[in-house]
Amino acid sequence: MTGRHTDKVAFITGAARGQGRAHAVRLATEGADIIAVDLAGPLPAAVPYDSATPADLDETVRLVEATGRRIIAHRVDTRDLDGLRAAADAGVAAFGRLDIVVANAGICIPQVWNEITPASFRDVLDINVTGTWNTVAATAGHLVDGGRGGSIILISSAAGVKMQPFMVHYTASKHAVTGMARALAAELGKHRIRVNSLHPGAVATPMGGGDMVAALGRALHSNPQLAQMATPFLPDWIAQPEDIAAAVSWLAADDSRAVTAAQIAVDLGSTQY
Ligand SMILES: NC(=O)c1ccc[n+]([C@@H]2O[C@H](COP(=O)([O-])OP(=O)(O)OC[C@H]3O[C@@H](n4cnc5c(N)ncnc54)[C@H](O)[C@@H]3O)[C@@H](O)[C@H]2O)c1
Repeated sequence: MTGRHTDKVAFITGAARGQGRAHAVRLATEGADIIAVDLAGPLPAAVPYDSATPADLDETVRLVEATGRRIIAHRVDTRDLDGLRAAADAGVAAFGRLDIVVANAGICIPQVWNEITPASFRDVLDINVTGTWNTVAATAGHLVDGGRGGSIILISSAAGVKMQPFMVHYTASKHAVTGMARALAAELGKHRIRVNSLHPGAVATPMGGGDMVAALGRALHSNPQLAQMATPFLPDWIAQPEDIAAAVSWLAADDSRAVTAAQIAVDLGSTQY
């Protein structure tokens, strides 16, 4: 697959670690230069897992540069449209083009429905929905101006096609991302810009670390019957970030040139259970 994205440029949010880092490394390995964005700082207080750090973002830079490709990394919150615009404009000025956008940054807060606070509902919607919209708003104009088409990949979730119990806010946000991709695909198609949503099931990233498992366990205690909801068909219970990156690479490539407005599940079958 080396060369699949030679001399293309990809803009990736949430690139400091986890899936975003895997997307950056995979696309760079296949020849793309990377414009990376991450908050790389404290997430909202109700998030039960550890926040990414500037050192995490530095490590992504190191890994991408080790492939021989270029990367420009910015510490930007996707809720900050002006900051995203500045990152996108600077990246395109430096690398000369933009071809691929991966709106990946997101947060997850497991809470029983009647324990969701106004603040955590707002935080999840602000980051997962408005942050995703901001990412498109800051970048899609560059794809249009480039005149070569492009691929925009919005990272939703299994919770964006089925649902995830104890995550009403997260489920609502990821369904919004699914709809956003479909609606954008309609309008951007005339520019040969494809827009698809990608729906990971459980993935082994720092999102599942810290107090995440304990928080899920506490919520499950309120309704143990729902423990079956994420059962996969394949023997593995969790995918690796590289499994999701492989789908990102395909969606970014000409191999998927006839695919737009699609919901691509990479979930071991869990959304069909
Ligand atoms: N891990 C899973 O099981 C899983 C399953 C389905 C979908 N997802 C989705 O995949 C995406 C990536 O998640 P991950 O598993 O790699 O999680 P992660 O927490 O390991 O990484 C997410 C990255 O996004 C960054 N980020 C969060 N909010 C941000 C903001 N406002 N601005 C800029 N950066 C921000 C974080 O700093 C972090 O580096 C998310 O959208 C998540 O909802 C994850």
